[in-house]
Amino acid sequence: MGAQIIDGKAFAAKVRSKVGEHVTSLKADHGITPGLAVVLVGEDPASQVYVRSKGKMTTEVGMKSVEHKLDVATSEADLLALIDALNNDDSIHGILVQLPLPGHLDEDLVINAISPAKDVDGFHISNVGLLGTGQKSMVPCTPLGCLMMLREHHGSLSGLDAVVIGRSNIVGKPMAQLLLGDSCTVTIAHSRTKDLQDVVRRADIVVAAVGRPEMVPGDWIKKGASVIDVGINRIERDGKNKLVGDVDFASCAEVAGAITPVPGGVGPMTIACLLANTVTACCRANGLAEPEGLTA
Ligand code: GUN
Repeated sequence: MGAQIIDGKAFAAKVRSKVGEHVTSLKADHGITPGLAVVLVGEDPASQVYVRSKGKMTTEVGMKSVEHKLDVATSEADLLALIDALNNDDSIHGILVQLPLPGHLDEDLVINAISPAKDVDGFHISNVGLLGTGQKSMVPCTPLGCLMMLREHHGSLSGLDAVVIGRSNIVGKPMAQLLLGDSCTVTIAHSRTKDLQDVVRRADIVVAAVGRPEMVPGDWIKKGASVIDVGINRIERDGKNKLVGDVDFASCAEVAGAITPVPGGVGPMTIACLLANTVTACCRANGLAEPEGLTA
């Protein structure tokens, strides 16, 4: 194995510790406690695990954590009324509505009802537009975590060839915008891309976010490239359940210069960046300097 393994778990712990320091000084110097509200509609088991984990880590860094668990049959009007109340609550600086929502609720409508300044997911159409035009915005957590790891590894990303595989609104598109913002030459590849392997072979940075287990083999990777694996796929192998990414870790690690493992790579960075975004939102709401190194 030639690649440096990028330890997302250790990196995320560092980010959370930095967030904790900012929370401590916000409390001591300004009497402000950043607050994050998480809204979960229904009882999807995976979502329940995420929400519990978010609540625990929010409290651990000294922030206020509020959870609203709503019945699966909650009406759109009731959900919008809750979001309106949270938008107007000065003790709440970040609002996250856990996705996916039950089918009778319009996700776009609900997300766009969140105040853009409190939209710590960065999914509101205003934040998407601000990011796309290079203005200050709230940045989606997973791509922000990927960017932080790439900056740490490379220093400057300027002029590098980057390929993002996947065009989702949550990861692929904002990731491409962030890499463009750091002056990469960016290609967004997807299921209809012709000669995907040739596109990937040119890249100094490969971000895989397609949700297809071990889709990218090592012989697609340019020697020394950085491989960021956003995939979290559950598969069965040799009669055992296993978590794998979107790249074939063993063969990619032979050629890459650096690679994130699954688990323990991008995953832990997502919640760390949610906490970072909440502190950023709190500082902006109070006209205070933003924490350095925790934003795009
Ligand atoms: N469901 C899975 N990932 C996410 C995320 O990053 N934000 C929200 N709100 N819901 C999710």
